[in-house]
Amino acid sequence: MFLSAAVRSALSQTARQVRSLHRSAVRAGAGGIFVHRDTADNNPETPFEFTEENKKRIEAIVSMYPVGHKQAATIPVLDVAQRQHGWLPLSAMNKVAEVLEIPPMRVYEVATFYTMFLRQPVGKYFIQICTTTPCMLCNSDSILEAIQNKLGIKVGETTPDKLFTLLEVECLGACVNAPMVQINDNYYEDLTPKDIEEIIDELKAGRVPPPGPRNGRFSCEPAGGLTSLTEPPKGPGFGVRSDL
Ligand code: FES
Repeated sequence: MFLSAAVRSALSQTARQVRSLHRSAVRAGAGGIFVHRDTADNNPETPFEFTEENKKRIEAIVSMYPVGHKQAATIPVLDVAQRQHGWLPLSAMNKVAEVLEIPPMRVYEVATFYTMFLRQPVGKYFIQICTTTPCMLCNSDSILEAIQNKLGIKVGETTPDKLFTLLEVECLGACVNAPMVQINDNYYEDLTPKDIEEIIDELKAGRVPPPGPRNGRFSCEPAGGLTSLTEPPKGPGFGVRSDL
């Protein structure tokens, strides 16, 4: 069959896009694959029930949304399920759908979109390293390399002792403190390879290091010190004439 040069070029471009899409999906999918396959411990029959405490929590969450819009609570309720179980088996997602009275597919769509939702078990410490542009420009590659060397695992893997899982993710919203990682609920920022090695050592020893910047910054102020707002605020009365 004869194909013009333009068609061949378009096909080759499409093939390149498909390949990069697949590569991105495997790297970014917290659950590894997007397609669910029944396993012994993850199938529709696996028992899952919210604890009494979490049922009350869900009631409170749902009450914050207008009547008839329970679906809006999908993300926080999935989060409750994940915090209870450690990850999201199919039965947990189905339970969320039941509680919110929506089709299970609506829940699967959300759980498969966000890397914060885990559809496979992870280690006790779940390390998410951001390698998006600002972090990449601040050498997140060196942090990733330090983690992989220290733990002997690659992205998407868990250490044999089930202590650490490593995942590469897109921007975590702390670009101004790049490079950074999220470990469970904590952000560790302004990292050097030495910092991340120390953090891992602390976690291995059973201690959780204080989160935040590691370079002495309090938050995200300029690294070279403040350039404005350098005095304490004068308060609302400042500048008001006393003779009025
Ligand atoms: S680019 Fe890394 S936190 Fe935004």
